[in-house]
Amino acid sequence: MKPLLVLLVSTAWTLTGAQYYYQGLMDYLENRLLAIEDRMQFWHEQCHRYHTELLDFKKHTAEAMDGLKNGHGVLLRDLEGAAVRVDRVEREMDYVEALTSPRACASKAEKVLEQEAWGLEENCVEIISAIRSVKILKRVGGPDGMWTRDPRSSKVFVLNGTSGDSVYQFSSVRDFSRSPGVSGGRQIRLPSEWIGPGAAVYNGFLYYLRRETETDMQVVKYDLLSGSVTDAAMFPLESYAAVYGLNPETVADLAVDDQGLWLLYAAEDSEPSINLAKMDPATLDMEQIWDTRCPRENAEAAFVACGTVYVVYNTRPASRSRVECVFDVNEMVVSEEAPLIYFPRRYGAHASLKYNPEEKQLYGWDDGYQIIYRLTMKRKLLV
Ligand SMILES: *[C@@H]1O[C@H](CO)[C@@H](O)[C@H](O)[C@H]1NC(C)=O
Repeated sequence: MKPLLVLLVSTAWTLTGAQYYYQGLMDYLENRLLAIEDRMQFWHEQCHRYHTELLDFKKHTAEAMDGLKNGHGVLLRDLEGAAVRVDRVEREMDYVEALTSPRACASKAEKVLEQEAWGLEENCVEIISAIRSVKILKRVGGPDGMWTRDPRSSKVFVLNGTSGDSVYQFSSVRDFSRSPGVSGGRQIRLPSEWIGPGAAVYNGFLYYLRRETETDMQVVKYDLLSGSVTDAAMFPLESYAAVYGLNPETVADLAVDDQGLWLLYAAEDSEPSINLAKMDPATLDMEQIWDTRCPRENAEAAFVACGTVYVVYNTRPASRSRVECVFDVNEMVVSEEAPLIYFPRRYGAHASLKYNPEEKQLYGWDDGYQIIYRLTMKRKLLV
């Protein structure tokens, strides 16, 4: 009995001990599991957080990437724009360089300067339709002479008589009209004699005619500012022949208009009509010559306006002066279509008529009277 009891007890104890042992184990395991569960929960949460953070990160990265991409695009466009601008600047530099290169200057400068100085009008399309008004300014000098105004300044120049070495300069028309006579002006002494009232003034230069021998005629270009001759050109005459039948003192006649400098002359005495030459104001070269077919007979004066020659005729003894022949170098006006322009009745005859393209008026010299005719212009008929 006693060993059984011992066994039982010991078993029980053992059982109890085992029980305890297992219980403890169970507890331990349970705790561990709980801890693991906690841990898992924690990890799960962490994981979730990381995931969310990762998503956020991805989102931010994507945005940043987009931003970068846009920025890149803008940068690219800016660069392209800059490239285009650099290109343009380069081309402009090339152009400016070409303009300022000595070669370009040499070929263009002279012509351009001369054209600018003269303010020439290439496409001048006006014709004189009537004489609007007459102003008899004063009476100085003899029956022959001329007076004119520099279209580029207000200065007035008087050449009294049929020849001489003096020209009288006045600062304005008003100045001239107030002066007691030609002596009130500045007397300019030329290095050679002018002949006939056929001179012209433009842009500070006096262009006048000089006779060397009976048949050798010269056009002289005189700088009124410096007081020196800058150019002289011969023009050949077969024999002495005055250009206008009623004014034998006018050997030839220089004229200024919107298109430049002209010379009206007679080629020879047997030649019945008036010749016209276009002159280069810089070199005095004759650029082109026309036969106007306007008769010299009974002509007293002529002038050029807008590339058209107007020849003024009269009778002896003097009656009314009138434009009876016109010649247009641009062939836009024919004589038959041109209006017949009568000058207001006067007792004398014109020794000269000088057209001023800036004011569109004529400076006439009529038996010692200085007269201003204001003109009405109209468009040329384009045929
Ligand atoms: C103008 O010229 C005429 C000759 O045509 C002369 O008789 C007269 O004295 C001159 N007048 C002046 C002011 O020089």
